[in-house]
Amino acid sequence: MLQELILPLPDDFHIHLRQGLDLANYAKSAEQQFGRILAMPNTEPPINSAEAVKKYKEEILAAAPSLEVLLTFKLNKNYAEQELLEMQKNGAIAAKYYPLGVTTNSQDGVSKIEDMYPTIELMEKLDLVLCLHGEEPGAFCLDREKEFLKHLEKLCKTFPKLRIVLEHVSSAEAVECVKNLPQNVAATVTVHHLILTLNDIVGDSLRPQNFCKPLPKLPKDKAAVRSAVFGGDKKFFLGTDSAPHALEKKECLCGAAGVYSAPVAIPILIEEFEKENKSELLSNFIAGFGADFYKIPRQTKKITYIKKEWQVPKIIDKAVPLKAGEVLKWQK
Ligand code: DOR
Ligand code: ZN
Repeated sequence: MLQELILPLPDDFHIHLRQGLDLANYAKSAEQQFGRILAMPNTEPPINSAEAVKKYKEEILAAAPSLEVLLTFKLNKNYAEQELLEMQKNGAIAAKYYPLGVTTNSQDGVSKIEDMYPTIELMEKLDLVLCLHGEEPGAFCLDREKEFLKHLEKLCKTFPKLRIVLEHVSSAEAVECVKNLPQNVAATVTVHHLILTLNDIVGDSLRPQNFCKPLPKLPKDKAAVRSAVFGGDKKFFLGTDSAPHALEKKECLCGAAGVYSAPVAIPILIEEFEKENKSELLSNFIAGFGADFYKIPRQTKKITYIKKEWQVPKIIDKAVPLKAGEVLKWQK
């Protein structure tokens, strides 16, 4: 039985750190768990200029100086090549595409992805990665990801050199689709989509802390996500989509989508990989495949986890974390 585990300092290729007064807390909590993060741009206001990219990086670093900060910008308008180059210079490595209205702060999202093709063509030329929130607005909630896949396939055909990440993959169909597309297409996997199904949101009691987009789906979908990860497929790597919302924003008439997983993500993953007898694959999932896909050096710093039980607080930074109140087996 493992009692100690030395891991590379993890990368999180998809995290929400918000803005304003909340940013410092969320950045610090990310710094405690990860060495490197890719910050999402759906802040208020959104990150969609070279100036905003620069300022956001500075704000994150002011709170969490040891974090290596990689940035995204929101693909909700077309950009001139010069502006893309400047965003790249300021630390952006990817653009994030949100369809209109599918999730938190996507009221400025795009209704037709083809409208963004001029920028996507430039991104292919500049080797910027396209990150997709892959859900089709208006489709039945459990079918939104599956219905989006036609856009992913068309993007691949139109821009064969573009690197694309289907974020937070959550359905068997999407796992299959990503596997079948060329090597320049990958997917991030969240901790919550590895462990939850729709039952954990509405099956017994209503659990708003588990409500997120895309929705955790059926047992067969969870099984498909798990088999890609525990099969060691290099196209699937960690992006937690840790998305904190204050408790009162989630438990109200119109609750926000998002699971706050950053404080618990790595301990849960250690347990899950251990359960599957796949502990040897964990370091590639948390600090290998993602870096390779993004063409950045693999992390060399290490972190030691020990087997020692602890109880997840019921609230952290005003938000209810994933597995709040439950006992986890591993800690730093
Ligand atoms: O559940 C989610 N929350 N999914 C997303 O895509 C966005 C995120 C957020 O920003 O709260
Ligand atoms: Zn997200």
